[in-house]
Amino acid sequence: MFSDASNFVKGVDLSFAVILGISVIFLVGITAVMIYFVWKYRRSKNPKATQIEGNNKLEILWTVIPTILVLIMFYYGWLGYKPMRDIPEDAIPIKATAQMWSWNFEYANGKNSDTLVVPLNKAVKLDLVSRDVLHSLYVPAFRIKEDVVPGRTNKMWFIAQETGKYDLFCAEYCGLRHAYMLSKVVVLPEDEYTKWYNDTTSALANVHPGLQVIKKNACVSCHSFDGTKLVGPSFRGIWGKSETVVTDGKERSITVDEDYLRRSIYDPNADIVIGYNPGLMISYKELIGEDDLAQIIEYLKTLN
Ligand code: CUA
Repeated sequence: MFSDASNFVKGVDLSFAVILGISVIFLVGITAVMIYFVWKYRRSKNPKATQIEGNNKLEILWTVIPTILVLIMFYYGWLGYKPMRDIPEDAIPIKATAQMWSWNFEYANGKNSDTLVVPLNKAVKLDLVSRDVLHSLYVPAFRIKEDVVPGRTNKMWFIAQETGKYDLFCAEYCGLRHAYMLSKVVVLPEDEYTKWYNDTTSALANVHPGLQVIKKNACVSCHSFDGTKLVGPSFRGIWGKSETVVTDGKERSITVDEDYLRRSIYDPNADIVIGYNPGLMISYKELIGEDDLAQIIEYLKTLN
């Protein structure tokens, strides 16, 4: 609390402190009065209950005072919240894509990253896109959180005011590996950021083009390379493997070939390998073109 990692920290912390302060006053006050009354109206001194028929003064008092208190909380909440909705025109746009279960950040020059890299003291605007279900982008140190909703683009913005690395979470339960949707915000001095931004030679430049497609689409969130069973079958030794799958409710045996892999990526729920659940993978038809698909298949062949 009370660091200054983003331009929203002061406003959010102030409203938090106001609400906490009012709550503490009530907690202490109500507890004290309660204890006092228990003692004052104890049975030995008041064996017969007194009936009270209502009190206008009291009614007005306990309506007006809470109304004022609630308006004070609203006022400070609004002070903290309003600037979050006023996105500066010149903010650096970054597209933040959430999918089960990873984040991808795409910059104006087409550069992609799985951590959010931003320059110090510059307004950054995030366009929030979900490929599947509800997610929520949350950076506690910056006091920002916004739902990532499939079918609409939400927005959020901030100015990072201290260099460093900060946690970035998914704050909406989005399925089995929700807890793995954590990443970092890296705040760099402007010159270092510019250097990073202009370096478009991908870190993946020297790896197999098929693996590049796999990494870019975060397939590894659900498919391991080492044989571990995650949400989907492992990639290890997958080419030519015999599997029992469920197709239209019937079990059948298949051999993993090009047709099978193609269908698994474009129409993933058509065949479900025994032991796995349907409905967990979306179709990548819009996201992975035929060329990229062929590269993936070529790459998977090398894993035997
Ligand atoms: Cu995405 Cu939780």
